[in-house]
Amino acid sequence: MSIFVILGLLVCIEAQGSSAVTTVFVQKGDDLILNVGPKAYFVKWKFNERVIVVFDTEGGRIIDPGFTGRIEFPVKTFSVKLKNLQEADSGVYAAQVSRIMGGGMLTLAEYKVTVQGPVSPVELTVDSVDSVFSRGSDSCNLTVTCSTQHSHISSTFRCVSRTCSQEGGEQSELTTSGASLHVYLMYGAIICNHSNQVTNDFKRIEPFCPQCAGSEGSSAGTSVYLVKMVVFSVGLIIMVFAVITVHLMEKFKKHK
Ligand SMILES: *[C@@H]1O[C@H](CO)[C@@H](O)[C@H](O)[C@H]1NC(C)=O
Ligand SMILES: *[C@@H]1O[C@H](CO)[C@@H](O)[C@H](O)[C@H]1NC(C)=O
Repeated sequence: MSIFVILGLLVCIEAQGSSAVTTVFVQKGDDLILNVGPKAYFVKWKFNERVIVVFDTEGGRIIDPGFTGRIEFPVKTFSVKLKNLQEADSGVYAAQVSRIMGGGMLTLAEYKVTVQGPVSPVELTVDSVDSVFSRGSDSCNLTVTCSTQHSHISSTFRCVSRTCSQEGGEQSELTTSGASLHVYLMYGAIICNHSNQVTNDFKRIEPFCPQCAGSEGSSAGTSVYLVKMVVFSVGLIIMVFAVITVHLMEKFKKHK
């Protein structure tokens, strides 16, 4: 009787058909749970065609020695948890069962896993600023270099006062596997961003034309000067009043 139950379940699994591949990006050192539907029996987990776990009928399991200590079994039946993933663990993980009819294997779940480490840090430097100041308006061409280990991109920004545009639009370049370096404008700031699917490192600078900064500096200077003058004048008036008051009071006392 139990044979019939199991057969029935297996036919049921076959009817469900094989599942689509799930693509997952994982940060190096993180764990990953690979799920398989709870209705499966006699499941094998494979990593790039190598069998790493086999669940037997009694609920036990056989683990590839290369995976002992690195694999755990969450409560969900037949699901596995891979611990502390490293770049070398990237690949295809599949849960399979044997077909009853026609032979071969039926894939119940398939994951294409990519483990990525942190990207290398970026530097953003201003190489040159060519400015023109005419008819009260400032404009400049600002050239920056966005770089990281083994790659760099230069890009020019044309600014009028503090409003800039990037020549040729956003610039990007592929770096090591899956990572890319970008230089772009965001909310008026120049961003140099090195990113892969799981991490990123970026630097930002606020672009400005030198004259622009200079004129702002002198106008700030003027207002500080004005405030000082006002404070000084008020102070002087109060002191004069005080001296006069004291003098008058003295006179008044003598008079008495
Ligand atoms: C910036 O570059 C453009 C195009 O090359 C040029 O017409 C303009 O005069 C330059 N401006 C400055 C301030 O150098
Ligand atoms: C850098 O790039 C990543 C990936 O595209 C993105 O998630 C992140 O928001 C970017 N950072 C900035 C400051 O633009």
